[in-house]
Amino acid sequence: MTTFATPEGTRRFAARFPKTAEGHFREAQRLAVSSLGIGTYLGNPDEKTDSGYTAAIVEAAQGGINVIDAAINYRFQRSERSIGAALAELENKGIARDELILCTKAGYLTPDGDMPSDPNEYFFREYIQPGVLGAKDIVGGGHCMTPRFLKNQLGRSLRNLRVDCVDVFYLHNPESQLGEVPKADFLERIREAFTFLESAVVAGEIQYYGVATWNAFRQEASARDSMQLAELVQIAQEIAGGRHRFRFVQLPFNLGMTEALTLGNQMVAGRKRTITEAADELDITLIASASLLQGQVARNLPGFVADAFGLENDAERALQFVRSAPGITTALVGMSRPEHARANARLLGMPTATVDQFSKLFARGETA
Ligand SMILES: NC(=O)c1ccc[n+]([C@@H]2O[C@H](COP(=O)([O-])OP(=O)(O)OC[C@H]3O[C@@H](n4cnc5c(N)ncnc54)[C@H](OP(=O)(O)O)[C@@H]3O)[C@@H](O)[C@H]2O)c1
Repeated sequence: MTTFATPEGTRRFAARFPKTAEGHFREAQRLAVSSLGIGTYLGNPDEKTDSGYTAAIVEAAQGGINVIDAAINYRFQRSERSIGAALAELENKGIARDELILCTKAGYLTPDGDMPSDPNEYFFREYIQPGVLGAKDIVGGGHCMTPRFLKNQLGRSLRNLRVDCVDVFYLHNPESQLGEVPKADFLERIREAFTFLESAVVAGEIQYYGVATWNAFRQEASARDSMQLAELVQIAQEIAGGRHRFRFVQLPFNLGMTEALTLGNQMVAGRKRTITEAADELDITLIASASLLQGQVARNLPGFVADAFGLENDAERALQFVRSAPGITTALVGMSRPEHARANARLLGMPTATVDQFSKLFARGETA
C-alpha cells in the first residue's frame, strides 16, 4: 500500500469532485493539490477540540480538500493525533493515504498531550537526559533545529499521525533563531537541518521538506529575521543537487498581510523579486497560512471587497482572495468545527477570482 501522496492518488482524489470549479485543484510538485487546506493550530488541548478537528478533517476531505496541515506543538501534539484519527476514518470511507497531502512541522519543544505539572522535569527526562538535546541547542527558550532533535520529532510525528511518511515536513519558524544567532551560524544550522531532511527523504520518512515562516518573508530584506529563498535553495542544491526536496514554503498571506504579492524583498539572480515571483523561479510551492488572519477577516470587511469579489459572506471573500492570488497554491484555513468545513466547501465550486477582480481590489490602493 502506498504510504504517501502520489500524482495518481491525488488525481484520483480530484476526480471524486467533478463539481468543484476548474482551478480548484492545481498541480504542484506533480501532485493535484486543493486550493483550500485545513489547518489545526488554534484551540484548546482538550477532547472536545480533538474530536472537532477529527470531524472537520473528515468533512473537509469529503468536500474536496486534500491538504492537511499540522505541527507537532499544535495543541501539545493533540492536533497531529486528531489527524491520525481522521485518516483512519477516511480510510474506512474509501479515501486512501495516497490521495492526501499530509504536512507537519518541527522546531518548538512541546509537552505530550497536556502541560506537565513540572515542565522542566518533563523536558529533562524526555530530551536532555537521553541526549536528544543539549542546553546550547535551544534558542529563545524553546526552539531547536539540530538534526538529532528533528529526527526525534519526526519519529514522534509519524506515530501521532499513524503514518510511515509525511509529505511535507517543515522547519517551524526557523527565523525565530535569528534574534539570537548570527546569520552565518544560522545558515550553517539550516545546512545541517537540510542534510538530515534529505536523508529522511532517502529513508522514505518524508517526501518533501520546507520552511514554515511567520516573519521571514514578510519584511524588508534588511530586517534581522528576514530570509532569502535563493540562499536556502542554494544550500539544498549543494546537498542534493537538482533533485533536492526543499520544495515548500509556508507564510502568512491574507487580506491584512499581503506582502507575498507586494513586497520585493527577495533577490534572485541579481534581480529584486517578491516571494511569489522568487518561488516561481526557484520551483518552490507556496502555501498560505492564517488565510483568515486567525478569524479576524472572516467578518466586517469593507464593502469594496464584496464589490470586487461578490460571494455570500466575508469569510468566503477572504478565502477567495488567498486561493486566487497568483503564486499561492493552497490557502490554509483553520477549522476545528465541521460546520466551518462544510461552509468553506461551498467556495470550492466557485471559480477563482479573475485578474480583473483582483485589480479592482488593489485599485482601491489598500486591502482590509
Ligand atoms: N508559522 C506557521 O507555521 C503558521 C502560523 C499560523 C498558521 N499556520 C497554519 O495555517 C493554518 C491556518 O491559520 P490559523 O488556523 O492560525 O488561522 P485562520 O485560518 O486565519 O483562522 C482560523 C479561525 O477561523 C475560523 N473559521 C474557519 N472558517 C470560518 C468561517 N467560514 N467563518 C468564520 N470563521 C471561520 C476558525 O474557527 P473554528 O476553529 O471554530 O472552526 C478559526 O477560529 C493553521 O491552522 C496552521 O496550520 C502556520
